[in-house]
Amino acid sequence: MRDIVQVVPDTAWDASGDGAPTHDVESVIEDGGVLVLPQLRFELSPDEHQLLDPGVADGKAKNVSLRGSSDDVRGANPAHIDATRALMRRYRAQSMALVERLFPHYRGHLQCGNTSYRPMPIEGRVTSWRKDDTRLHVDAFPSNPIHGRRLLRVFHNLHPRGEPRRWRVGEPFETFAARYLPAISRPLPGSPALLHALRVTKSRRSAYDHYMLQLHDRVKADAAYQRDAPQRRIDLAPGTTWVVYSDQVLHAAMGGQFLIEQTFYLEPSALKNPASAPVAVLQKLLGRPLL
Ligand SMILES: [Fe+2]
Repeated sequence: MRDIVQVVPDTAWDASGDGAPTHDVESVIEDGGVLVLPQLRFELSPDEHQLLDPGVADGKAKNVSLRGSSDDVRGANPAHIDATRALMRRYRAQSMALVERLFPHYRGHLQCGNTSYRPMPIEGRVTSWRKDDTRLHVDAFPSNPIHGRRLLRVFHNLHPRGEPRRWRVGEPFETFAARYLPAISRPLPGSPALLHALRVTKSRRSAYDHYMLQLHDRVKADAAYQRDAPQRRIDLAPGTTWVVYSDQVLHAAMGGQFLIEQTFYLEPSALKNPASAPVAVLQKLLGRPLL
């Protein structure tokens, strides 16, 4: 199996100083790679170490999040709203500086999605198979159609006592999609309008979103694939930052606690190689437009 993990030695988030040797690496992630920066630490202030506690979340949501480019915090225990907002705003700004440096081709095209702080352990989370992220999957969301836009994500492991974030990653997107696409039927005529009218979706679900959700569900439901498909493990130590297109790379989170993550959206036309986008791959395999 190809080595999809690319490790670079950067120690700085923005382009200042000697700690930022890596740039123009769009092709690494567009080709389905995981860009790993083991020395790129996200520093917490002494006061912020108290946020490394599951009690920071309100107990209903599993994540604390900052919504888009706003300062609106969701899912936090009221006592920790201001401190988690400050933490996530800083992570958002540093992530933006990082991706603009690593991927200068995307400058001016990146749209800020949510920042998410996940203080809960992966292990022992009771969940349905569809929401079980310990199964290999590509990211796709039932209520939030993305119409072909890319999901570029910057992750960081904040664990204070040495526990890695343990991932599995799988085969290339095209190989995976070609395996499941023949069995997936077209969206029912009228269903996107109905789902939107019923507020199941926040906007009309495109044919692209239909196929991505089906791929997400079918691969999670396929126990033999989860067990036998080509895959490798990656352990991401505390203090490690990693960057990935999570709509493209088959991934599963097997263990770990205290993760922070920033999402960016990007139109496929802004890629260096637009043919690498999942929408382009699916359109090629199906022989028709999906948007
Ligand atoms: Fe995921």
